[in-house]
Amino acid sequence: MAQSIKPGSTWNDTGGSAINAHGGCVVYHDGYYYWFGEQRNSNKSDGISCYRSKDFYSWSKMSRAVTPAGTKTDENRDIASGRTLERPKVIYNEQTNKWVMWIHWENGDDYGQAKVAVCTADKVEGPYKMKDVFRPNGCDSRDQTLFLDTDGKAYHIYSTNMNSNTNCERLSEDFLAPLPDYAVQLKGRRYEAAAIFKAGDIYYGLFSGCTGWNTNPGRYMWTYDLMDETWQAPADFKASDGSTGINFCVDNNKGTTYQSQSNYVFPVPGKDKCFVYMGDRWNPSNIQSSKHVWLPLSVRSGYPTVRWYDEWDLSVFDEMYRMKRLKEPEEGAEVYLLEKYSNRIVSRPNASLTIENDGKSNLCFILHKTETPYVYKIEEKATGKYMESVFGTTRWQEKSESKAQEWMLWLQEDGYYRIENLNDGVCLSVSGNTTEAGTTLYLSDANSNVHQSFGLYFDSKEHADYPEADMFSKTYRESNREAMKEQSAAVGITSIREKSGHRRIYELGSGRLVQGPMSRGTYVEVNEGKTRKFVIKRK
Ligand code: DGJ
Repeated sequence: MAQSIKPGSTWNDTGGSAINAHGGCVVYHDGYYYWFGEQRNSNKSDGISCYRSKDFYSWSKMSRAVTPAGTKTDENRDIASGRTLERPKVIYNEQTNKWVMWIHWENGDDYGQAKVAVCTADKVEGPYKMKDVFRPNGCDSRDQTLFLDTDGKAYHIYSTNMNSNTNCERLSEDFLAPLPDYAVQLKGRRYEAAAIFKAGDIYYGLFSGCTGWNTNPGRYMWTYDLMDETWQAPADFKASDGSTGINFCVDNNKGTTYQSQSNYVFPVPGKDKCFVYMGDRWNPSNIQSSKHVWLPLSVRSGYPTVRWYDEWDLSVFDEMYRMKRLKEPEEGAEVYLLEKYSNRIVSRPNASLTIENDGKSNLCFILHKTETPYVYKIEEKATGKYMESVFGTTRWQEKSESKAQEWMLWLQEDGYYRIENLNDGVCLSVSGNTTEAGTTLYLSDANSNVHQSFGLYFDSKEHADYPEADMFSKTYRESNREAMKEQSAAVGITSIREKSGHRRIYELGSGRLVQGPMSRGTYVEVNEGKTRKFVIKRK
């Protein structure tokens, strides 16, 4: 009996056969997990399978949830044998007491129909009976998913317009049809394999690129409103792996989403903000034998990250949120620095600073206010030494009056900080913008194309009394934007810095380099309606 999950390995059911449930989803009901997926006979569709588990690791095969029946009709409105059924998703409707399944439906010959089949059942495991097959709101619908919101409203999200856009539509009260107003989103991004989930007020979407059965880098977006065209990535730089969007995978093989494509994100019952990424490792020459890649997903950083595990079990969630984000920097606060894109903690396993997994040489710092607002000295708790910037690297010294020990914490909209040295203007930066454990940190000029974002996190086991940031609330970014304005106003224009005989102008607040290096001339910078003129002279 399986006691753990081994992503990408053959996963047998309790009868000893490889689990044949692809592109699917998991629902939890009355103490059991139910796993639905495409049942395949080699490459051919063979209905929708259902497996059940008490522990999430060992699964027993149930009767088929959807069994093809009847003959093909010219109307293309049947679930006859030979039809292609993909990406089934199941939700429960409390008003009708029915289980509702939406499936991507094709005629069995090609992908030209681009329809959905909607089925219902009285019991979670089925049998599900076909209610209708149609194009939602008349739109082509290929990869598709459902999302049941905390307020009981349900949504259908699907690749459309020949996979170039993603549509989102709310479902009718009985979940059997879409409401007429649909939102055309993520235009031109060519996303497939949508998986939607929610933490606090934030909806997250995982997506893949559009490369058939072949892998590509996964990517994520977030929004406060599923029906708005407001999906956002955390930053607008092009991801280093060339995808349009930021990858949620942070380990080796992230360029192929660990050789998988997303199919669902399952919220672990009873464990707040703990999710399981479910993906398919497709084998295009025998889809039935495609493997399952299930991995823990965290939103601790405010964004989804999926680390690779050769083997894991549900206990990984026990300490997933032990480190919590501090509401704001405070005198004497004991903090860890969490790097935004990797969800990893600034550490020092050897001589240099690196980002590492929790518990591996993570550095605990003590923040000390200085006389300058927003500027802190950063003491390493274990040694009592202070972080200093010297010739592009960090050095640890006895406390001194040197500006090299003073660090401006530039707040960003998402609650992260760019940590900039007051003496030479360099910022804590991630080598190569990579996200893997062991990546080294260095100091470099403020640059929006370099990963320079660190969150202040605290160990909630040691400091249960520390105030936590309300980072999943709708108002969090707005209040940060206000705080950023205050910081800009309070700090004033100090962002003209000299380097190698030249000067550069940095945008207040973001620290983004807007001009430089500059030679002689007159420059005008307008900030918040205030115009300042600078005359730059060579020394
Ligand atoms: C990619 C989709 O994500 C899969 O579900 C499947 O439809 C394949 N394309 C077919 O090529």
